[in-house]
Amino acid sequence: MMKKYIRYAILGMALILAACVPTDAWKPVAGGDNLTADPSWACTGWIGAANGVLDIGAGNEFRAYVNTYGPRLQAEGDFGVRVTLSADAANLAAFSLIGKPGLGNWWNETNKLDVGLEEGNVVVYFYDGKSFMPRVKQTFPAEGLSGQVTLELRRVGDKLVVRANGKEVGQLDDPGILPEGWAYFGASVRPNNTLHIHKLSVVAPPDNANVAIRTGSESAYTPTDPPLRDLADARGIYIGAAVEPQHLRCDPVYGEVLGREFNILVTENAFKFYAIHPEAERYTFEGADTVVAFAEAHKMKVRGHTLLWHQSMPAWIENAAFTPEQWEQAIHEHISTVVGRYKGRVAYWDVLNEAISDSAAGGPLRQTNWSTGLGPDFIDKAFTWAHEADPEALLFYNDYGAEGMGAKSDQVYALVKGLVERGIPIHGVGLQMHLTLGTAPKPEDVQRNIRRLGELGLQVHITEMDIRLPANASDDLFTAQANMYREYLKVCLAETNCTALVMWGFTDRYSWIPDANPGFDHALIFDKLYRPKPAYFALRDALTLPKSLGPEDFGASCNCKP
Ligand code: G3I
Repeated sequence: MMKKYIRYAILGMALILAACVPTDAWKPVAGGDNLTADPSWACTGWIGAANGVLDIGAGNEFRAYVNTYGPRLQAEGDFGVRVTLSADAANLAAFSLIGKPGLGNWWNETNKLDVGLEEGNVVVYFYDGKSFMPRVKQTFPAEGLSGQVTLELRRVGDKLVVRANGKEVGQLDDPGILPEGWAYFGASVRPNNTLHIHKLSVVAPPDNANVAIRTGSESAYTPTDPPLRDLADARGIYIGAAVEPQHLRCDPVYGEVLGREFNILVTENAFKFYAIHPEAERYTFEGADTVVAFAEAHKMKVRGHTLLWHQSMPAWIENAAFTPEQWEQAIHEHISTVVGRYKGRVAYWDVLNEAISDSAAGGPLRQTNWSTGLGPDFIDKAFTWAHEADPEALLFYNDYGAEGMGAKSDQVYALVKGLVERGIPIHGVGLQMHLTLGTAPKPEDVQRNIRRLGELGLQVHITEMDIRLPANASDDLFTAQANMYREYLKVCLAETNCTALVMWGFTDRYSWIPDANPGFDHALIFDKLYRPKPAYFALRDALTLPKSLGPEDFGASCNCKP
């Protein structure tokens, strides 16, 4: 009898104790209860956002994804990220906190923490940006984890605490996450695995109010009146930038600034062979359609870049060993299909990009499998096919390092002079203008080059202008950069056959420069928060200077169709 009372008493005590133990006091912060519902995930292009579950596949290579379109974690002091996830395979599937995205590839200069599942254990990897190998790797055995698992990463003081299904499985010293107090979310998935994120929340202890969620595009864009495009229209010139469809889809400020400030755009990658014709029997027009539709909705001219280039060709072209007839059929069909689809919608085409070899001054044309296959008149064929597909489009040859006067610009001049003399339909030359402060051609040489091309009846577009600065540039370099932007626009305004100045992007946030040129940045006219830089105002200065002389002053004639 006594035993039964003792049993009841113990049971009663246990129930009282259970009632006293506080439930976990760390709660979701405002807007942080389930971030998988944020629309930006669908934007990234690498996530299947199905009914609120983020399905993140790796395909056959290791994938380190980062959602730079938001939402972002902002935190001082203690915080937690709680993720309910599952994976299709046993190899790594982890959520990531990216305090600094990689440059050029996922690991270079990154600050990234992965917390996930690997071979049934909970794992933590930390990458400090110096190597693709993690600086810190911890494995916490955790029996019985299967199906959906709720992992939680907590920063508590100078420790990181890792929990699985509500229980602590391990701790490690904070290796230095969130170096700037914020982080993007992302994922790391090993080949042939798919991570499913069912819920992603940010939590904080009751005593820390310094944990927040940032969504949407971080921006400090301050419109200047009138917009740059109005000043350009008044001078009869196009001013614009290279554009990527995913930024139009995912970053509302990107489209706002682009549509307000510019009257022309060029596709940075969407019209390239690899992007629009990835397999012999498959075209992917979505990206180009997005960009062209935006241009039409904002009354902007479109430059299509580029039909043929020795780079960024899809594997089915790179690896092809066609007969001459097969090459003719493949390239002719590509050009006809792409130009034909956008007939009347793309005003200018870079038919051929960078065909002049850098091997030596006066060097040969670059040879590729497709140029060899098409034969020595491959350039004539490409321009002729493009013209047949859209007789109204103006067709350009585009190159870099040929902006001023010199061996390479002489080679370009000779190339296009030959096309003109053979009656091949070419209407202009694109001068890319990828510059640094120390490698800029003299403005007067650029003017001479533009003028001699005008004497062939050709237009000139500055097609890819950017002026990269050291990543740690001081204000005087931004002033020097502004002066260069101003001088080259003044040169273009002074020559009636120079009808467009197009930059290779317009905000430093998405410039190719940091990835491709580590240590350099700040190449464009808006900074990463869309603040106008001195270079933006320098372009405005050049457009509001007294009107430059017109064709009647030079007698220059060119087929400068409006
Ligand atoms: O979109 C895919 C993405 O889905 C994938 O996950 C990722 C990793 O493989 O690749 C992404 O595509 C990349 C693309 O940029 C968009 O970011 C390509 O790999 C990458 O090769 C491509 O680089 C472009 C480069 O040309 C080569 O095409 C740069 O953005 C672009 O700025 C650069 O532009 C060139 C001009 O076309 C010609 N003149 C020089 C200029 C600078 O190199």
